[in-house]
Amino acid sequence: MSVLDAIKGRFSVRHYLPEPVSENDLNTIIEAARFSQSAKNLQDWKFIVVRDEKMRQKLSVAAKGQSFVAQAPVVIACCGTGIDYVMTCGQHAYNLDVAIAMENMALTAYELGLGTCWLGAFYEDQIKIVLSIPEDDVRVVGLLTIGRPSDQRPEKRRKKLDEIVRYETW
Ligand SMILES: Cc1cc2nc3c(=O)[nH]c(=O)nc-3n(C[C@H](O)[C@H](O)[C@H](O)COP(=O)(O)O)c2cc1C
Repeated sequence: MSVLDAIKGRFSVRHYLPEPVSENDLNTIIEAARFSQSAKNLQDWKFIVVRDEKMRQKLSVAAKGQSFVAQAPVVIACCGTGIDYVMTCGQHAYNLDVAIAMENMALTAYELGLGTCWLGAFYEDQIKIVLSIPEDDVRVVGLLTIGRPSDQRPEKRRKKLDEIVRYETW
């Protein structure tokens, strides 16, 4: 599978089969996060792997009742740690670093025949309580559900190239 095939084929999976993710596949997915690029190669991140059903149910509540969070056999809470570092361009690095790692995990999962969904709709304070994440100095950037999909890929709706690309100047 080419990288572009994976990028085009991946889709957000919101229904999962009741099948565990193998240890091997999980480790491969986490390896994709570990090898991700990061600003200054700081790797200021932590990935909290949640498989316990009761915990996933609590995460689902904190994610505004999105029920597939409890249905997916694995949820990874993706956290930035060095949250004060702002790059010269004015962006916080941790957001971008963790986002890259999350997408690399999503693409790797897709290559393994697994589905994922990125969640940004959650109450961070509630997620922190459920997972005992420190109140200060850590931000939860996103949740990633992982499991065997029971969804079919919908048609991808994307903007046309000429809407998003400019050459040489804006
Ligand atoms: C930063 C971010 C936050 C998202 N939050 C949610 C979410 O809370 N719940 C959800 O069901 N999907 C969420 N999504 C998935 C998007 O809705 C989805 O990626 C988009 O509609 C494109 O569809 P596709 O992933 O199937 O290509 C999120 C995606 C991103 C990148």
